Amino acid sequence: MADPLHTIAGTLRDALAQATALPADSIDPVVRPSDRADAQANGALALGKQLGRNPREVAEAAVATGLLDGVCDHVEVAGPGFINLTFKPEFLAAQLAEAAADDHLGVRSAGLTEIAVVDYSAPNVAKEMHVGHLRTTLIGDALVRMLEFVGHTVIRENHIGDWGTPFGMLIEHVVDLGGADAELNLDLADPGSFYKQARAKFDASDEFKERARARVTLLQSRTDGPTMALWQKLVDQSADYFDVVYGSLGVLLRRDDIVGESFYQPLMPAMLDRLDHAGLLDVSDGAKVVWVPGFTNREGDPLPLIVQARTGGFNYATSDITCVLDRVERLHATLLVYCIGTPQSQHLQMVFKAAEMLGVLVPPARAVHVNNGSVLGADRKMLKSRSGEPEMLLDLVDGAIERGTALVAERSPELSADDAALLGRQLGLGALKYAELSTDRIKDYVFDWDRMLSFEGNTAPYLQYAHARICSIFRRADLQRDSVSDVVPAISDPQERALALQLLQFDAAVHDAVDKFSPHKLCTYLFELAQTFTAFYEACPVLKDGFEATRESRLALCHLTARVLQQGLALLGIDAPERM
Ligand code: ARG
Repeated sequence: MADPLHTIAGTLRDALAQATALPADSIDPVVRPSDRADAQANGALALGKQLGRNPREVAEAAVATGLLDGVCDHVEVAGPGFINLTFKPEFLAAQLAEAAADDHLGVRSAGLTEIAVVDYSAPNVAKEMHVGHLRTTLIGDALVRMLEFVGHTVIRENHIGDWGTPFGMLIEHVVDLGGADAELNLDLADPGSFYKQARAKFDASDEFKERARARVTLLQSRTDGPTMALWQKLVDQSADYFDVVYGSLGVLLRRDDIVGESFYQPLMPAMLDRLDHAGLLDVSDGAKVVWVPGFTNREGDPLPLIVQARTGGFNYATSDITCVLDRVERLHATLLVYCIGTPQSQHLQMVFKAAEMLGVLVPPARAVHVNNGSVLGADRKMLKSRSGEPEMLLDLVDGAIERGTALVAERSPELSADDAALLGRQLGLGALKYAELSTDRIKDYVFDWDRMLSFEGNTAPYLQYAHARICSIFRRADLQRDSVSDVVPAISDPQERALALQLLQFDAAVHDAVDKFSPHKLCTYLFELAQTFTAFYEACPVLKDGFEATRESRLALCHLTARVLQQGLALLGIDAPERM
């Protein structure tokens, strides 16, 4: 346990148990970081209330047990019964040494490790990936990395839109272009125009419309070889394009992670049977629906969740309910994470509720909508490209790399072309990703290249620079960083103490980000760590003559800071170069 708050919480629990004669495992000591001391415990307040005792007296009795003396220099009961704790330097040093010896840097594994399915990115076949996919892709990718880091088994699923009525017109458009041998421009050049061309024909020609309708029926039967081959061609070519985007963005999604809407089609009739057997299916206006309590339309009337249209077709809700079943029953997932924009919130809540009513999405299985707001342009409207279309994701990636490269050329002209290209990419992509991930996901944010590429403020370049600067300290001293791995630092100066405490919060920060599915919590922590390090470095000379006695100890603090920064950025999918 390299989190002092966690260690101290255990000790406090025992002290409060002795003070109240309650069983220790029923007590929450409520330990928090504090401005007045290293930590504060508020648990005596609730216990006092529960037992009808004065909370101050409960707090004082806990302190009087002496159990805290081993880890604290100073313990004080304040206000109505807060316990303010100041740790012994040796305790902090020992906790740091423990964190340093751990390849997870003191981040504890989750108490209960689960199988988690993370549904993210989810672009649509024959359409381009645009700025909206930036958010779901990056948030999902960071969550995958963090969930794995704390020990969960994570299954990535890219729930692409690869089925439904538009595929009638899309396939007919392929037929017009030459069928199996057709050249489809579903690549980087203009992935979205294919869809628009098909749509234009559909709107203009009754003959095409008829063909499209007939083709949907063939597709839905899944038995017509040529139709399936044309469909597969569309899906494969789009997947090639998605792969390029994921590759250039540096996210974990691979071809194997695609489990699109089409996958669930064959499983849907059985799902509808189950709804029927459970007495949950009703017919409304000719469509099969589920009445999910608690959802109403604008007029206040109950809102049906349509699972089969009057025409017999299945829809988005059918696919998503079936998908819940698949994740819980085939994959044995207990945590279903959906990284999708806020506008789909009602859809998902209804789907989750329907799956719950069916007895599938029940504890320990649970689903979470990890929603996100929009990326805005300077005009505070959805970010648009010059042509007025939503900004393409790949253009943002290219723009980031270009700007990162320009920045490197300006700051580090001495680098070789290869090194400069790599660094430019790391800087640009880091900036783009961090701007996204450091914002509370539920909020909208204004896209601003200058701000995200700045070396000041809560940005990737600031954090990457802090890391690179530590690496350069070791280079100047002509030392391998590993050489101080086993050094137990001495904590005496206030800035050393502040840095030690901050380093030891990594565990809490990662768990907070994971528990709330909020990468920005980790970003805030890393930013504070970099600032605390800067203050330490200004106040505590590391390599200066005359400070030989503290050199090793301070180098050990530097080394651990660099490791936490590097690991923290890696959890966000961001590289930490050693030189900048
Ligand atoms: N393809 C959908 C869209 O672009 C997102 C799908 C998200 N995942 C899901 N299970 N519904 O809006």
